Amino acid sequence: MRVCVIGTGYVGLVTGVCLAHVGHDVVCIDVNEEKVKLMQSGQSPIFEPGLSDLMKSSMATGHLQFSTNLQAGVEHGEILFIAVGTPALPTGESDTRYVEAVAKGIGSHLNGGYKVIVNKSTVPIGSGDWVRMIVMDGVTERQAVPVPAGGVPETTHPEVIADFDVVSNPEFLREGSAVYDTFNPDRIVLGSNSPRAIAMMKELYTPIVERRFAEDTTAGAVPVVVTDLSSAEMVKYASNAFLATKISFINEVANICDRVGADVTQVAQGIGLDSRIGKKFLQAGIGWGGSCFPKDVSALIHTADDYGYEAQLLKAAVDVNNRQRQITLEKLQQVLKILKGKTVGLLGLTFKPDTDDMRDAPSLILIEQLNRLGAKVKAYDPIVSQSGLRHGLTGVIVESDASHLADSCDALVLVTDWQQFKELDYAAMGQRMNSPIMIDGRNFLDREAMVRAGFQYMGIGR
Ligand SMILES: NC(=O)c1ccc[n+]([C@@H]2O[C@H](COP(=O)([O-])OP(=O)(O)OC[C@H]3O[C@@H](n4cnc5c(N)ncnc54)[C@H](O)[C@@H]3O)[C@@H](O)[C@H]2O)c1
Repeated sequence: MRVCVIGTGYVGLVTGVCLAHVGHDVVCIDVNEEKVKLMQSGQSPIFEPGLSDLMKSSMATGHLQFSTNLQAGVEHGEILFIAVGTPALPTGESDTRYVEAVAKGIGSHLNGGYKVIVNKSTVPIGSGDWVRMIVMDGVTERQAVPVPAGGVPETTHPEVIADFDVVSNPEFLREGSAVYDTFNPDRIVLGSNSPRAIAMMKELYTPIVERRFAEDTTAGAVPVVVTDLSSAEMVKYASNAFLATKISFINEVANICDRVGADVTQVAQGIGLDSRIGKKFLQAGIGWGGSCFPKDVSALIHTADDYGYEAQLLKAAVDVNNRQRQITLEKLQQVLKILKGKTVGLLGLTFKPDTDDMRDAPSLILIEQLNRLGAKVKAYDPIVSQSGLRHGLTGVIVESDASHLADSCDALVLVTDWQQFKELDYAAMGQRMNSPIMIDGRNFLDREAMVRAGFQYMGIGR
């Protein structure tokens, strides 16, 4: 099928590349010219395991193209994905101005021929109808533009030009395993009142539903959940709010463990084996961050507020998460007493491993707070240390390798659980430090091994 993906960030680019890989003809559009040039040269602007290779092979087969030309993209696609960012405003609500710009742009380029407009961006509940309205605004605004002298007037009625349906198709991929998640989804959610649009979306996803590109091609078909527009939008928010709350729950338990002398990693194992609870998202630590959980939880709280409902549980999940950042700092103060004049080394900067995404990363808050308390901050991150991202950071010296990070540090804090951090020579690193102290913000390292390496080790809730 002919597909246009508008917005080539973590979601749009992965979606475009994977749909091209399964055989669709995909044009990816972005307003960022530099990014588009990079992608046209076969390079991915983001780090995501497996993405670059798939991108190159799909470009070679002619199934994948990149452009800044929205009109060409709209003309090309039978299915038009909106995959631009919806960051949080200071009030907590979603900033939908990029979605609005795209919807209007699509409207201004519609020219007859049925289209399915798909909201893949995470948008506030009720946005499906709003997108339809904005697309129609784009159609009518274009019609209002006078035809230049000698030009051919576009006389088609707006209803004929604007033959489209809107579908909400929330995205559940995890950064760091986005390609894997796209080919191995737990479910596909399609929200629309149009049977025609749903049928086209099902056809689009058939290779994925039938697991032709999955790790286990013999597993049963991927469940497709068809809902109305608002319910699909709510599925996305409710999923992220649930996962964030689950993490805040185990962090709350960890803080109680700390006080009563229990080990939260053992507790999590004990409760996680209960099939009603499950093991995932029960790792206590420095708290959740990233580009989705914080903004999606606050957007849901804000929506509830708009409708006169106070989302108390979600507000508590946010409070616990904010307090969790503080706990790492308190642990440092407990062992180092005064932080002024001390040097703290951070292992990891990205909000989670296997990504280069720094949005709402816990490391940023830690850096800010340590700076405020007069500490010098150094950091090493397998991706950030080797990329241009390091130059955008303030208040932290980004080292090029982990062993140098340890030089003259008074303590290390493990912030991101990169697999590489399990393999470091901690005994040698400890010798380069003023005092070999490790605050393990992810309960990721082997406590006994760290003690054997000469470290004073503190985890979260253990
Ligand atoms: N990142 C994730 O893990 C994830 C997971 C699920 C859902 N989501 C949701 O998906 C959406 C996209 O997230 P992301 O992380 O991919 O965003 P992103 O910020 O990484 O990428 C957005 C892209 O859209 C482009 N863009 C902005 N305005 C444009 C316009 N008018 N026309 C064309 N391109 C435009 C930007 O240049 C950028 O490349 C968000 O709503 C997000 O909440 C993200």
